[in-house]
Amino acid sequence: MSETIPPPPSATTGAHMDAEGYAAAYARSLDDPDGFWREEARRLDWVTPPATIANWSFDPVDIRWFEDGVLNLCHNCVDRHLPARADQTAILWEGDEPGVVRRISYAELHVAVVAMALKLKTLGVVKGDRVTLYLPMIPEAAIAMLACARIGVVHSVVFGGFSPEALHGRIEDCGSRVVITADGGMRGGRLVPLKANVDAALERGCGVTSVIVVRHLGNDVPMAEGRDHWADEMAVSGDCPCEPMGAEDPLFILYTSGSTGKPKGVLHTTGGYGVWTASTFHHVFDYREGEIFWCTADVGWVTGHSYVVYGPLANGATSLMFEGVPNHPNVERFWEMVERHEVNIFYTAPTAIRALMREGDDPVTKHDRSSLRLLGSVGEPINPEAWKWYWRTVGDERCAVIDTWWQTETGGVMITTLPGAHGMKPGSAGRPFFGVEPLLVDGDGKLLEGATSGNLCIARSWPGQMRTVYGDHERFVQTYFSTYKGLYFTGDGCRRDEDDYYWITGRVDDVLNVSGHRMGTAEVESALVAHPLVAEAAVVGYPHDIKGTGIYAYVTLNAGEENSEALETELRQQVRKEIGPIASPDIIHVTPALPKTRSGKIMRRILRKIAENDFGSLGDTSTLADPSLVDSLIEGRRNR
Ligand code: WT7
Repeated sequence: MSETIPPPPSATTGAHMDAEGYAAAYARSLDDPDGFWREEARRLDWVTPPATIANWSFDPVDIRWFEDGVLNLCHNCVDRHLPARADQTAILWEGDEPGVVRRISYAELHVAVVAMALKLKTLGVVKGDRVTLYLPMIPEAAIAMLACARIGVVHSVVFGGFSPEALHGRIEDCGSRVVITADGGMRGGRLVPLKANVDAALERGCGVTSVIVVRHLGNDVPMAEGRDHWADEMAVSGDCPCEPMGAEDPLFILYTSGSTGKPKGVLHTTGGYGVWTASTFHHVFDYREGEIFWCTADVGWVTGHSYVVYGPLANGATSLMFEGVPNHPNVERFWEMVERHEVNIFYTAPTAIRALMREGDDPVTKHDRSSLRLLGSVGEPINPEAWKWYWRTVGDERCAVIDTWWQTETGGVMITTLPGAHGMKPGSAGRPFFGVEPLLVDGDGKLLEGATSGNLCIARSWPGQMRTVYGDHERFVQTYFSTYKGLYFTGDGCRRDEDDYYWITGRVDDVLNVSGHRMGTAEVESALVAHPLVAEAAVVGYPHDIKGTGIYAYVTLNAGEENSEALETELRQQVRKEIGPIASPDIIHVTPALPKTRSGKIMRRILRKIAENDFGSLGDTSTLADPSLVDSLIEGRRNR
């Protein structure tokens, strides 16, 4: 039996929902989805409320929610709050340097968003166009996203840690003609040369005609005449009304790694994503009027989209946005900020929790954390040890801890305990959110009942579900709906216990979750083989204390080439250049050959086991073309 910790009084007192409330609402969300989501949709203002609610099929794949409704998400996140909360802080920003703070009220946010939207219009951008955002964690990132939403432009945010090469691929794939960037960003005291990266990306050629450059650091950057515009020098005036959008009109594209090939452009639409983020923010965080909400994710990831920008602002909350990193200038940074800004809800990733746990309790306990009410975790499985430290040391056993499982594809939280309703089990995400019907299936797609383990699928659509892979609907169908016909396959393995709690065990495909960031092994491999001395590469994950999963790269060299430390450095450089620092391998293992079957297929299972230092259960190696290779691989692993 797994340990269950009852929700603390801070979670149950004043909660929107208790256990019975959840059970009733969950049952209704499955029995009467149209009625349930028609009501939840009222969290948003609609120009035309939807008459049709759910209209979807997983075979053939065609997903629509609220399809005849008309709305604008910028209106919902900004304009509609003006009568009641013009002076309330919408975005509370702290820079990389401690105590450098900006407070942007809803009224100021409105002015800034209108101005940015007008600047985009000046450049000839119209409804349906795609605009790429490559920005640091500054308010202008949220402002630019909302400006796009305001005029019906589809934003594609690219994380500032991606290389020019990766940025170029993403700009080209969605055909952006305009890029919004900044003169630079600061992370942990180090400058991120965003504008220079944009210049390098555009040199590779693509259809970009205009770049808007936000002045953030005030440093000199080269400006291309006629192409680049300082945001603060673009004179605009007047109003810019919100464009009425069909519920199924695209809102954004966000690229994410899959098990094969290049990153996929995950497409989310206006109505369903809007309802999902507004509803999950309200229920999952049991959000209460006036609270300060801090999600530490970068807006370059879906967590930042849904829970730094759209979810909190749709609910009229104050969203804290942080430019920096947890260990700059020291490891007290998070808790110092919790104290300074009297944060009520704190939402971060297990990798950060594990890294800070290593530093002991002192950096935490010396700061006043009495404002905290709720602690959240997202991005990867949280090990019980880290969970307990979060619960005891950070939350003083006073704040509920929620572990929220979801994906870029799901738009928002799918599985979690509700703070006021459910007991908590350290290491388990918990129970399905409203409308979510999880199923476990075995490798052949056979449905598994009761307490068991299997592959996690979702049986029916939910409003926040991605609608397609931008420009490649067939890839959408293939990736998510072809493994198990009629079901959405998540790519995750999962255990369900005797209390119907779900325990995510990690990816079962060739996707790695490194520090909560998704990385396709195929992408890292193709970056490695692009090096002139590399013949072949096979990349697998292995357990890593801080990152959760580390990147282990097996590499073979061209005939006659020798391994050296310099070469390993070059290979890491190569991956940083093609993808970005987050994809840099932790271990490079140069080997004379890769284990292959007689038909030439790389046996990844063996490579995974060896990387995991698990030599006892390699399974059947007799089908290998050269079984003796295994000993040399083990020997190589032992030396690392
Ligand atoms: C993958 C999705 C959710 C937004 C951030 C990541 C893993 C995510 C959890 C969790 C166990 C988790 C899964 C999932 N994952 N949250 N609470 N417990 N695993 O979004 O980059 O699309 O990655 O992250 O493996 O499939 P993403």
